[in-house]
Amino acid sequence: MSPRLPVGVLISGRGSNMSALLEAAAAPDYPACIVLVGTDRPDAAGLAHARDAGVATLALDARALGRTAFEAALDSGLRARGVELICLAGFMRILSADFVERWRGRALNIHPSLLPAYKGLDTHARALADGVAEHGCTVHWVTPELDSGGIVAQARVPVKPGDDPTSLAARVLEQEHALYPRALAHIARALNR
Ligand code: GRF
Repeated sequence: MSPRLPVGVLISGRGSNMSALLEAAAAPDYPACIVLVGTDRPDAAGLAHARDAGVATLALDARALGRTAFEAALDSGLRARGVELICLAGFMRILSADFVERWRGRALNIHPSLLPAYKGLDTHARALADGVAEHGCTVHWVTPELDSGGIVAQARVPVKPGDDPTSLAARVLEQEHALYPRALAHIARALNR
């Protein structure tokens, strides 16, 4: 059996996608293991769950550190743990082109829309305002341009009559929790080959 790919997950908030990845990686035959959960916000709620799961955490206060020191500490923390692939999971800080270049081909993100539609924030409200029939989520490679890297996988959901941003977000999030572990497994198998 090939070794499991060491992955670092970056969060800024509740971390439900991180939890889905941790749960998937608990299976003995999953091709990746989560060796570090990092955050730019020491108050990120998901950190407690990562600690409870016995995963090492790196809680950095990006606002206090400033961008350069934050990214330097993040980069060395990830390397110190032997991370070979980063999964951004509700990580709300834009990383510099320098940082992204250093991790090019080794950083994934999950975005709550069917990219290339609705890059950026408030994706559910914007999809509803446009009256689209379908919405969803995308796992993609991270590149310096926001939400624009190559698409790895997508999942679709219907937009239902009476939906508001909250109900639509919940339907999409359920798909995110299945999609991200599946996409990571696919990439980990490809990288470990
Ligand atoms: C998810 O909808 C993700 O796609 C977006 O931010 C949300 C994070 O949720 N980037 P969680 O922190 O994983 O619960």
